[in-house]
Amino acid sequence: MATLTASGVAKEFPGHSADDPSVMALRGVNFTVNHNEFCSVLGHSGCGKTTLLTLVAGFEEPTEGELLLDGKPIGKPGWERSMIFQDYALFHWLTVEDNIAFGLQMKNVAREKQKSIVNNYIHLVGLTGFEKRYPHQLSGGMRQRVSIARALAVEPQILLMDEPFAALDAQNRGLMQQEMLRIWQHARKTCLLVTHSIEEAIALSDRILVMTRRPGTIKADLYVDLPRPRDEDDPNVIALKKQIRELIHNEFEIER
Ligand SMILES: Nc1ncnc2c1ncn2[C@@H]1O[C@H](COP(=O)(O)OP(=O)(O)OP(=O)(O)O)[C@@H](O)[C@H]1O
Ligand SMILES: [Mg+2]
Repeated sequence: MATLTASGVAKEFPGHSADDPSVMALRGVNFTVNHNEFCSVLGHSGCGKTTLLTLVAGFEEPTEGELLLDGKPIGKPGWERSMIFQDYALFHWLTVEDNIAFGLQMKNVAREKQKSIVNNYIHLVGLTGFEKRYPHQLSGGMRQRVSIARALAVEPQILLMDEPFAALDAQNRGLMQQEMLRIWQHARKTCLLVTHSIEEAIALSDRILVMTRRPGTIKADLYVDLPRPRDEDDPNVIALKKQIRELIHNEFEIER
């Protein structure tokens, strides 16, 4: 099981001087992401999306409220929560297979078991034949596949992704979205994806959370009850896109 619940979550970053005042990043954030659900978070730049992920990952603590995973408070970072970063965050001195094995070594998984897990995920993300390559010898899309495999190898219950495809060109981005869906359908994890792309959120998600401007809170919680793969010309998809665009645009208007 992996149900994520946020109740009354606020995060304020303390200031250090009058020129550097405190920043209220999140306020009154409430939502539940159900077991195996793919949930995306959309919102303006600076509204607190990354902050939300860092709280779920346990890199930071909320100032108020609580985050629960299957009813238990989230504390320090743990293997049950894996994060995938926009810039891949791979170890450049390690090969593809050693990058993927890294967390397994930290977890003291037996050598033989490490090998079979690594091979399994290399296969799942389509990197067979590239095991001995180093990150600089790979394309952006391939690096992101390594980072997905590394995140999955430790068998997390929830996968946290912060704009994982933002550094890719449009074509590769589309391909990686399809890959992500395929991987999610195989590995069946609860997923929380931060993205700037409404199209990406609609293509992938069961649920879409739209945030307000900072201090960010949940403005809309939308269910996407449409069969996959989703066709961008489907009138339901077009209507949902319009609805989300208006929700986000209205935030912009409020600010002005
Ligand atoms: N460690 C920190 N210390 C102080 N302020 C921070 C810290 N991290 C984030 N903030 C502030 O919190 C607010 C929210 O930042 P956050 O990175 O969560 O936004 P975001 O929604 O991810 O934006 P983007 O879409 O541009 O990535 C910003 O005003 C930012 O300056
Ligand atoms: Mg961010």
